[in-house]
Amino acid sequence: MWEELARKISEKTLLVCRRSGERIPYRADSRGRFDDRSGEGISWWTNGFWAGCLWQNYALTGREELKSAAQTQERKLDAALLDAGGLDHDSGFKWLLTAGADYTLTRGEESLNRLLLAASNLAGRFNPRGAFIRAWNDRSGEKAGWAIIDCLMNLPLLYRATALTGDPRFGQIAALHAGTAAERFQRPDGSVEHIVVFDPATGEKRGTLPGQGMASGGTWTRGQAWAIYGFTLSYLHTEDPRFLACAVRAADYFLAHIPASGLIPVDFAQGADCPFEDDSAAAIAASGLLELAGAAGERRYRDAAERLLTALSEKRLDLSPDTDFLLTHCSVSYHDREHNHPLIYADYFFTEAVLKRLGKGVFMW
Ligand code: GLY
Repeated sequence: MWEELARKISEKTLLVCRRSGERIPYRADSRGRFDDRSGEGISWWTNGFWAGCLWQNYALTGREELKSAAQTQERKLDAALLDAGGLDHDSGFKWLLTAGADYTLTRGEESLNRLLLAASNLAGRFNPRGAFIRAWNDRSGEKAGWAIIDCLMNLPLLYRATALTGDPRFGQIAALHAGTAAERFQRPDGSVEHIVVFDPATGEKRGTLPGQGMASGGTWTRGQAWAIYGFTLSYLHTEDPRFLACAVRAADYFLAHIPASGLIPVDFAQGADCPFEDDSAAAIAASGLLELAGAAGERRYRDAAERLLTALSEKRLDLSPDTDFLLTHCSVSYHDREHNHPLIYADYFFTEAVLKRLGKGVFMW
């Protein structure tokens, strides 16, 4: 099953690569064709994911046109490296999947330069009082104390910068932020907050916000998936058992709340009558669980990842050559007006997870 699935994904990705040219996609239009975040949208947080799809499929097939298209995406993102207002905590998503993949596979100096510039900016967002990395930007400073669970996935940019330069500061900052996430974001039952607000001057925790989830006390499923994968990655980079324990508790909570359909809602608290789904949460969790299965030595996480991927493949995968995307039912946020539509990061993590299950693809994190 997995070989066949990987082959079909790579055939469609190659077709879409030829059709969509230099677009940097985020969502699809009403005909199912990719939009384009080049130009004014160049700093958008998802702008590395299509390049990530191209690199994963290049690693699988060796087709040079996929590599060349991914390198074009990477060069286009140079404009984002010069946009101070657009550089936020999401630099890992943007540059690990572009310059990071390129450097892993080709050792090009330009890619190394991009990685280190992005890592330096991310490290500069660290608040030493609260030991957290600031999430988003604003001119008023209102969000200076906001940190979000998603940031765990950007920490490998810092771990990697330490590995590349021999300077421990980057990895130290990443581990301090992961420690704050362990202590301040995870609830006793293993679920996690999306946003924690700190006093940026004293570091004191002021409260939490539901962010993209349904309401306070709920559990935004993509945030829970970021926690499974993100804590696992901090464990892999630091070998600190605290992070493995957090990943296991986040995973056990996720597994205990998967509906019988195997498809994932936007928030685990939303109720069975609410039709909002998020395939991206399922795909991120699946890829994180495959990593956790190895780190924790627990086969049940691999089995759970396979069940999630099987449900997506059987019920939510669009392999038609007429559309550009793979997965059909994603949601940005519970309170958005639109739900159950394609999103590029769902396609990325689905591709990554299927290839990982096969022992193929490239490790980005
Ligand atoms: N990092 C933003 C999101 O997951 O939607």
